[in-house]
Amino acid sequence: MTEGIVLMQQTKSIKDIDVSNQRVLIRVDFNVPLDNEFNINDDSRIRETIPTINYCIDHNAKSIILVSHLGRPQGKDSTYSLKHILRRVERLLGRNVAFAESLEALPSILALLPQGGVVLLENIRFYEGEENNDTTLSQNLGKLCDVYVNDAFGASHRKHASTYGVAQYATHKVAGLLLKREIDCFSKALTNPLKPVLLIVGGSKVSSKLTLLSTILDSVDKILIGGAMSNTFLHAIGYNMQSSLIEPHLAEDAVKILRTAKAKGVKIYLPVDVVSTNNLKNPTEIKITPAQDIPDGMMVVDLGPATVKLFSQVIRACETIIWNGPMGVYEIDKFSRGTFSLAHVLADTYAYSVIGGGDTADAIDRAGEKDNMSFTSTGGGASLELLEGKVLPAFEVLERK
Ligand code: ADP
Ligand code: 3PG
Ligand code: MG
Repeated sequence: MTEGIVLMQQTKSIKDIDVSNQRVLIRVDFNVPLDNEFNINDDSRIRETIPTINYCIDHNAKSIILVSHLGRPQGKDSTYSLKHILRRVERLLGRNVAFAESLEALPSILALLPQGGVVLLENIRFYEGEENNDTTLSQNLGKLCDVYVNDAFGASHRKHASTYGVAQYATHKVAGLLLKREIDCFSKALTNPLKPVLLIVGGSKVSSKLTLLSTILDSVDKILIGGAMSNTFLHAIGYNMQSSLIEPHLAEDAVKILRTAKAKGVKIYLPVDVVSTNNLKNPTEIKITPAQDIPDGMMVVDLGPATVKLFSQVIRACETIIWNGPMGVYEIDKFSRGTFSLAHVLADTYAYSVIGGGDTADAIDRAGEKDNMSFTSTGGGASLELLEGKVLPAFEVLERK
């Protein structure tokens, strides 16, 4: 699986070309979580892209166009307007940023922009052609720039006009500093890492993470499985999971993974005890039991204390740790203990720690340990596909060294 990463690492970055007096278009991922009043809940994705924008300004770029999507709008819908985040971009950059309502509006705005001026284009998903990688839209984006920079790691698994098609129509196509950092940090964990290497995997979307488990068996020494993911595995080995969230049709795949892991000498650890409840929203009963004795009608929502101890020991014995997927329903205080405890243990180690997955990053932030991890990816789906060993489309179209 590491061949793909090595290939992606060979991508040229803005540092390998001259951006001086060039019109630069940067595909960023400003798809940040907003609340009902359009306040930004987490601006990490914007913050992480600032160095790339500053680099272009500092190296005398003529103009900088920022292109992003926000959410999954069906056509033009002001709920998903990037205007909601314009002020934050300006504040983090410390300068004025123009706003272009449409591609058609861009030329006149660019004409008035001072040297090194920055303009943010409205949500690129308002254009039908974006998601189907339309040629005309790709060409129109390409026409606007001399240098195309992709810094949208979070969207790098999408083969869209602004992440993929556009590259064909730009003279230079290179990675931004964030895209580069993401691939370098994942590479450190997967190509020639300090051993033992541990994968912690959890969360709810078992189906979307089984491929990861089977492909990563060649790159890790140990795997801790928690969250709803472990429910399916425990069910597969014959435990009665009662009302827990499971994906029974994946039981066979789960058993196959356990068998292959054994054959390859990879140790997989499953919860030995669990926290279960009768009702997620209004719990009137919460029980800690062995994983084999889940009370009738209850659902598993967190790791039990013995499992936390066991998993902590494994974490302390590893040198490289990749974590994707929370260990329980961490959004609810009562069921966050397993996830938060492991976050604290991980923070206290000297291991190289890489966090992937939107909810996992959020959980670690809530546990107050975000700054104590070696690296937190800005990608959810993208980091998952990278860990699965895929070459991400956005990297495919960039120049190589
Ligand atoms: P990530 O975004 O980090 O990839 P996922 O989206 O796969 O993670 O999973 C996160 C979700 O999994 C959270 O909303 C969490 O509440 C849920 N979850 C974790 N454990 C369980 C469980 N035992 N039962 C139901 N949901 C769970
Ligand atoms: C993300 O939030 O994972 C990225 O911004 C990609 O968004 P998408 O899943 O809507 O393509
Ligand atoms: Mg998620």
